[in-house]
Amino acid sequence: MNAKDRLIIALDFPTMDKAVELVEKLGDTASFYKVGLELFLNSKGKMVEYLAEKGKKIFLDLKFHDIPNTTAMASVFAAKENVFMFNVHASGGKKMMAKVVEEAKKINDKSLLIAVTILTSLSEEEVKETFMTEVSIKELAMNLARLTKEAGMDGVVCSPWEAKYIKEALGKEFKTVCPGVRPAWSATNDQTRIMTPKDAMLNGCDFLVVGRPITKNEDPVNATKMVIAEIEEGLKEGNLC
Ligand code: C5P
Repeated sequence: MNAKDRLIIALDFPTMDKAVELVEKLGDTASFYKVGLELFLNSKGKMVEYLAEKGKKIFLDLKFHDIPNTTAMASVFAAKENVFMFNVHASGGKKMMAKVVEEAKKINDKSLLIAVTILTSLSEEEVKETFMTEVSIKELAMNLARLTKEAGMDGVVCSPWEAKYIKEALGKEFKTVCPGVRPAWSATNDQTRIMTPKDAMLNGCDFLVVGRPITKNEDPVNATKMVIAEIEEGLKEGNLC
């Protein structure tokens, strides 16, 4: 897979007009976009239709979390859209994820099924308070990643700092989708455990999710090209995927 297809641009815009403006501006420079809850709901799903018509790859980031049957039925609709990847919460359990795999793969066996392990917005303190456990976030995340794999899902969303451990523990084929990426030339914003696109590649990330360094850039075309060039550099030096 080439460098361009590994960059997922996060369309974190409240309205479809703004998102479309960026996609039009980027044209052939970018091939892959992430649509989250805000844009999906505000556009009443139309953003997905628009990107598909443009021949773009889509990461449908709706993070389903419900009982197995309900989650699987929602997954059937995501699979029907032929999105490149969509996600669920691994904390919904192995049975839930296995049911998603069973039903979604009946519709198409190409959409990658990805799970979110522990939301990175949670601190160790909050995890302790929420789940009444002394187990560290890293251990919880690794356990959820293992359950994700056992359920037959294709990969997880994780920090670039964890991608290497996940690849080592669960194999090269298990996909890592990584936000928290910042080129050296851009602002960190509210991201804390960041890594550059090149280092992320060297650390075993399959796909990078990048938002503001591109979406808020004065020259998003150039910013996209620079990120892709850095991904390319990492791939040349040898990534773990
Ligand atoms: O603008 P930025 O590059 O920080 O955007 C990263 C994208 O990845 C956002 O859509 C954000 O919601 C998402 N994300 C994240 N950290 C996670 C999971 C998702 O930043 N752990």
